[in-house]
Amino acid sequence: MATLFGLIALAGCGPRVEHDPRLANAPLPERLAAADPRAGSAIFAQCAACHSIAQGAGDRAGPNLYAVPGRAIAQGSPNFNYSAALRSVGGVWTFDRLDAWLTSPAHFAPGTNMMFVGLHDGMDRADVIRFLNDNGSKLPLPPVVSQRTRPDR
Ligand code: HEC
Repeated sequence: MATLFGLIALAGCGPRVEHDPRLANAPLPERLAAADPRAGSAIFAQCAACHSIAQGAGDRAGPNLYAVPGRAIAQGSPNFNYSAALRSVGGVWTFDRLDAWLTSPAHFAPGTNMMFVGLHDGMDRADVIRFLNDNGSKLPLPPVVSQRTRPDR
């Protein structure tokens, strides 16, 4: 229901990009370029039961997600009790890693405490990653390599 209301609210606040369904399986840079952070905000209703996003907001069942892209995996929210499974991944949350995590948390970090099945639609993931990036990180998006710039044989 929260998602439904989120979508209705979104429809009321200006034009929404309708994604071409063929983009769902496109490479991540193309999906991120076409993604809509406001649609990601509506999708985030599914995450908000467990996650706050505002800077300095408290942890819920999951850690606060302010400025996640570029942030060290399983270290960003100092008081949160991360699982050994997620802590053992190491490194930082790149866009690629967020895309893999949100496809299937259990596959990305077997034994994780994030009880969430994942987002199967590639554009839903791109929308929510753009929303996460807008909330603190503001990292530059990866360049889209156009087919046309490939050298001819
Ligand atoms: C049922 C609760 C729940 C839902 C729903 C949920 N998460 Fe989580 N999330 C968690 C928990 C718990 C963890 C910590 C996992 C661990 O330590 O293994 C986590 C961890 C994360 C992390 C890693 C944070 C860090 O500091 O390394 C990200 C990113 C994340 N979630 C994003 C999302 C997004 C985006 C959604 C919605 C599409 C979502 N989560 C939905 C509970 C949830």
